[in-house]
Amino acid sequence: MCGIFGYIGTKQDASTSILEGLKSLEYRGYDSWGIALQKSDGTVHITKHPGKIGDAKAPDIQSSIGIGHTRWATHGAISRENAHPHTDCTGDVVLVHNGIVENFDKLKTELEAKGHTFKSETDSEVIAHLIEEFLTSSQDLGNVMKQTKQAIDGMNAVIVLFPKHQTFYIIKNGSPIVIGKASDGYYIASGASAILPHTKEVYFLEDGESAKLTTDALTIFDKQGQEKQPTFISLPYDAQMATKGDYEYFMLKEIEEQPTVLQTISKSGYEDIQKAATLIKNAHETYLIGCGTASYAALAGTYLFSKIAKRHINHSIGSEFSYLVDFLTDKSLIIPLSQSGETIDTISAVDSAKQKNAQILAITNSIGSTLYRKADTNILLNAGPEKAVASTKAYTAKIAYLYLLAHEMNGSYDKGIDHLDTAIKAISTLIDNQNDIEQIVHGMKDSTSIFVLGRGLSYPAALESALKIKEVSYVHAEGFAAGELKHGVLALVAKGTPIILFNPHDETYEDTISAAYEVRARGGYVIGLSDTNHEAYDEFIHIPDCGDCTVIPNVVVAQLMGYYLALAKGFDPDKPRNLAKSVVVK
Ligand code: F6R
Repeated sequence: MCGIFGYIGTKQDASTSILEGLKSLEYRGYDSWGIALQKSDGTVHITKHPGKIGDAKAPDIQSSIGIGHTRWATHGAISRENAHPHTDCTGDVVLVHNGIVENFDKLKTELEAKGHTFKSETDSEVIAHLIEEFLTSSQDLGNVMKQTKQAIDGMNAVIVLFPKHQTFYIIKNGSPIVIGKASDGYYIASGASAILPHTKEVYFLEDGESAKLTTDALTIFDKQGQEKQPTFISLPYDAQMATKGDYEYFMLKEIEEQPTVLQTISKSGYEDIQKAATLIKNAHETYLIGCGTASYAALAGTYLFSKIAKRHINHSIGSEFSYLVDFLTDKSLIIPLSQSGETIDTISAVDSAKQKNAQILAITNSIGSTLYRKADTNILLNAGPEKAVASTKAYTAKIAYLYLLAHEMNGSYDKGIDHLDTAIKAISTLIDNQNDIEQIVHGMKDSTSIFVLGRGLSYPAALESALKIKEVSYVHAEGFAAGELKHGVLALVAKGTPIILFNPHDETYEDTISAAYEVRARGGYVIGLSDTNHEAYDEFIHIPDCGDCTVIPNVVVAQLMGYYLALAKGFDPDKPRNLAKSVVVK
């Protein structure tokens, strides 16, 4: 969703850094963009465009202060007027905003009655006029920003440029804001990876905090408005990891990074896993929560813990969890799973659980993120920056952690590692032979529906696989428990409908073969994934037996299918329509 990038410092080419910063935030999803640059004569140059940045050049302006924004439309159409930055009536207040001002309607009516003229339909512009209004009774910017913070409802992050003072003020109550400290000044962004080319030293602004930045000073104010000493952390990866390198798309790069990511977990995940196992053992009950792909990892966790650790662990979709918290106590353990650590539905779920004093063990990929900061204990996935909208390596990393955690609780950690290592080899083979998958996908490119079937552990894997295929290729894809076929799904199977069938050699094998016969009898085209071929399959993809870890290479096949299907249909797999990487509004 919306992205913010700002710079204040000593170098004169803020324009280029801001444009590059916005480009590196493109993965969040946006539909218009804009930049404001303060010139040496004190005036501000603003450029705004509907659509993508594409080949646009940075404004040819010398400047050492500026803010940029990528907008994901909420209030008002995708247009130049509605793109950020927004200004007040005088031009003395220039701002970019992430979030939603929930009381904007009321504020706008009041401000219009006082003579303010609006140029856009956005809730964001209301903030600029509100600041202008407060400035009529006080020139103390800190005080004005405090009043502004109190006046706007909702989860918001706002950076305000006061050109007359060559100063930024930031208020934050929701959307993420990271401040990077470099030798040439301060960089501000809504995602840490955008700051990486400039510095690794970052401070994540907490909800309720605010900040004042000038060319050479940063002051952080706590929730009560008192100055506080910020503790900067060092990001654990470098700028190179957040670029495409030789790849055309992040999605393929991230798919191919999976063996390395999983190897790191296999080699050095034990300490974290032990810590988490103790928390689960001591808890009265445990809930795994997450949204989208992370919710399917949570569901997989329920199966893994039941099967391997002989322990029931509940799971819930993040946006549903706040309706399930009534029985939680201070003995409950909540495990939010999240790549970004910024998904608002997962964060709200955690907030509801915290109100019941439940313990939080966050499994995220983003050090310093909101979930990371809210948690009592953290496990970092260490998958490196994930920039394609469709989550791949963060998903398999989550499954690997949950799998090893279940084995640790069962006292069979070494067996878990053996299976994980076999799965890593299987993924490497799939990646080496990805042309075979590309070929199979060519036969599917005109299909209007694709179904993915599996039983047991392969059921959540089927759900995740269908999501991966549909979100990047826009082909209707659905995952089903194979046993549900005869309860309704069979009605959807027509001649030639591709059916991806996960059939590991476990307790589900024979029943899944029956499912293959059932769909074939109705004309379905069965693509079987298993360790041995079978006459019930029309197409066969060999996946070696990796025990309960077989679900990992199975999903990697679906990731590759989604990727190649998107390419075959002429879509950009990194930026699926209507979707954003970081879902920070409800
Ligand atoms: C799908 C996808 C989304 C995310 C979901 C949660 O490929 O990426 O479904 O998994 O929005 O995001 P995180 O993991 O950042 O909380």
